[in-house]
Amino acid sequence: MRAPLNSTIRRKMKVLKSDKIRKFYDSFGSKQDKQFYEEAPISVLLEQGKLNEATSIVEFGCGTGKLASRLLKNNFSSNSKYLGLDISQTMVGLCQKNIEQFSEHAKCYKSEGEPKVNIEDQCADRFISTYVFDLLSEEDLISVLNEAHRILVPGGYLCLASLTHGVSLVSRIVENIWSALYRLNPFIVGGCHPIQLTKYLHNDKWRILYDSVVVSYGVPSEIVVAEKL
Ligand SMILES: C[S@@+](CC[C@H](N)C(=O)[O-])C[C@H]1O[C@@H](n2cnc3c(N)ncnc32)[C@H](O)[C@@H]1O
Repeated sequence: MRAPLNSTIRRKMKVLKSDKIRKFYDSFGSKQDKQFYEEAPISVLLEQGKLNEATSIVEFGCGTGKLASRLLKNNFSSNSKYLGLDISQTMVGLCQKNIEQFSEHAKCYKSEGEPKVNIEDQCADRFISTYVFDLLSEEDLISVLNEAHRILVPGGYLCLASLTHGVSLVSRIVENIWSALYRLNPFIVGGCHPIQLTKYLHNDKWRILYDSVVVSYGVPSEIVVAEKL
């Protein structure tokens, strides 16, 4: 059961502007791959999102390409396609290096931070974004979801992981510390703050197939897989 929101997290978070986010991730670079608490939740996401059955994946905020290379090495057939995008040139460079051996069917490009993804309607069966929605403004988050809906084929899966609200004593303490650091200076926590993903998924557009909070090293992450209706 989800914990009730406390007064700290009910307060609306001010998000970093895209130029500041870009600056942060341009200098953070490969340190992103040391975020140990992401491993367990992402493994759950890959399993629940049946990524091994995917034929065309779009990843919003692909970071270093760690997830892309894991998918390409282990799960993908040679007919499958991957497209990643990121606002940070450093991240795009790292991702391109990570996926270069699959360059015939895997690409990554730098965006300006806009929610729009440069591909046609209904051309992907998975839209993934891990630890990105939790640093977007609500307005951008909703626009990215609309893009995901446009891009996915009917029956395609939206696969999301995000920092979220604690569900146990330890994870609530971690959440409160995280939120306090964010309020002090969002840069300390890479602009990420706890959110509830399912709040944004409306049942006229999405059927939620999986939603759970995975706590890893005390950090609560929400994992959501939703089918495009
Ligand atoms: C916390 S990192 C997560 C990276 C990767 N998804 C992972 O799980 O390791 C957030 C990533 O989102 C990218 N990002 C942030 N805002 C973005 C936007 N508006 N458009 C595209 N990428 C964005 C950042 O540059 C960074 O690489």
